Amino acid sequence: MTKSDNPIELVILTGAGISAESGLGTFRDKDGLWTKYDLAEVASPKGFAADPGKVHDFYNARRRNASEASPNAAHTALVELEAKLGDRMMLITQNVDDLHERAGSRSVLHMHGALSRARCAACGATFDAPQVMSADDPCPCCWNNATRPDIVWFGEMPMHMDRIYAALAECTLFVAIGTSGTVYPAAGFVAEARAGGADTLELNAEPSAVASAFADAHYGQASQIVPAWTREVLAQFE
Ligand code: APR
Repeated sequence: MTKSDNPIELVILTGAGISAESGLGTFRDKDGLWTKYDLAEVASPKGFAADPGKVHDFYNARRRNASEASPNAAHTALVELEAKLGDRMMLITQNVDDLHERAGSRSVLHMHGALSRARCAACGATFDAPQVMSADDPCPCCWNNATRPDIVWFGEMPMHMDRIYAALAECTLFVAIGTSGTVYPAAGFVAEARAGGADTLELNAEPSAVASAFADAHYGQASQIVPAWTREVLAQFE
């Protein structure tokens, strides 16, 4: 793979743990979302086909929670890093909330989609999601009642994968923040980055399922350990 003109040097992947201190639940911690909901019912194409109303209710609640939450110091620290590194940094998130954007991040790849976006299952049009969606909403393009959250469900292909794999192959540092390392392909990014010769760092509350693949790690609350890490990185630019 030829090096692109302006190589991505730093790839960051975030998960639900970066938004935990903002009050948004994670999935697999104690009291996590998947302890309260059956993911097959609310986060799969089959579940949506069986009961679109239940799926819309699930995402309407998450959209409301996200709108009531505020970014925390970890989100803000990544904004400062982006301001310094610009397009030498790629921020990928598995999260569907918009806390990175509301903190000020200008380039965020939502590989699992976003609560703020909707899609028509009939014509494929995508558009800004209303705060509350329902199975009766007509698509603004084809008028079919087939709108769904523009979220990647289990069994569906995550978004932006070509750009992500290209960046993992050329980056010099891959950092995972607040993710359990249990869902692929995101859990495999550390191996991809190492194969490309990158250094790797895990920032998490506890060792993830792929902790052994990382060359380095700091464990603690994201609002503490992420700013501490970005201060170290930014100091190298002074
Ligand atoms: N600071 C840092 N890490 C934290 C914090 C915190 N305050 N709170 C929780 N964590 C860590 C947990 O230790 C856990 O390793 O965040 C991780 C959250 O893991 P998950 O709940 O599995 O969330 P995530 O890894 O983002 O899930 C990946 O799975 O269900 C799908 O599509 C969904 O995008 C999601 C994907």
